Amino acid sequence: MPGELCVGLACSPRRDGNTTLLLESAAEILRSGSVETEIYRLADIDFSPCMACEGCSATGRCVIDDGAMHLYDRILKAEIVIMAAPVFSMGICAHAKMFIDRAQQFWASKYLLNRQVVEDGHLRRSRRGIFISCAGTRIDGVFEGTVRVARYFFKMLDIRLAGAYCYPGVDGRGDILSHKAALDEIRDASIKLSPDVKK
Ligand SMILES: Cc1cc2nc3c(=O)[nH]c(=O)nc-3n(C[C@H](O)[C@H](O)[C@H](O)COP(=O)(O)O)c2cc1C
Repeated sequence: MPGELCVGLACSPRRDGNTTLLLESAAEILRSGSVETEIYRLADIDFSPCMACEGCSATGRCVIDDGAMHLYDRILKAEIVIMAAPVFSMGICAHAKMFIDRAQQFWASKYLLNRQVVEDGHLRRSRRGIFISCAGTRIDGVFEGTVRVARYFFKMLDIRLAGAYCYPGVDGRGDILSHKAALDEIRDASIKLSPDVKK
């Protein structure tokens, strides 16, 4: 039986930023269990925001043929999806939001056209993922907006969200590397994502 595919979305524009480092640590664990893992940095992908043209309402497919479409095609083939996105201005960072808005095509497909997001029954049952975030402050509710949007993203794609892992008070680039509890938690979450990963 072929191994599983994981797609990781590095949504922060900061190279080697905290959320990307956590995503990479998750990828390392998954690869050790022979899960093919692809990481995409949204800032390197050429894509447009949703234009609200309503083209997808009729077809279930976005009319804009760009990097976001290629990435959604990979996501539809994946059993595991990990989104890593920081809090910017009390919400999810702009690259993540722009990409999530392009998932409106799956909302249209499900709720307007009564179609399955993925036809393959095996994929439909097993799709799962986690969300990872960091914020510089420890303000009450700092992750509220971000997690809400992320939950909606997974729901639009019919992917079971196994957990949202959010770390406040992490600001400088790479500061997360000295946050042992976060690294351990992401390690455990990654192990749980794939039955092939050895503990
Ligand atoms: C444009 C911008 C806006 C930010 N807004 C917030 C904010 O509203 N609240 C907060 O706690 N941290 C905020 N931060 C801090 C980031 O959440 C923090 O640095 C985080 O570790 C970044 O993760 P990254 O390294 O993966 O990009 C902001 C950072 C930037 C660059």
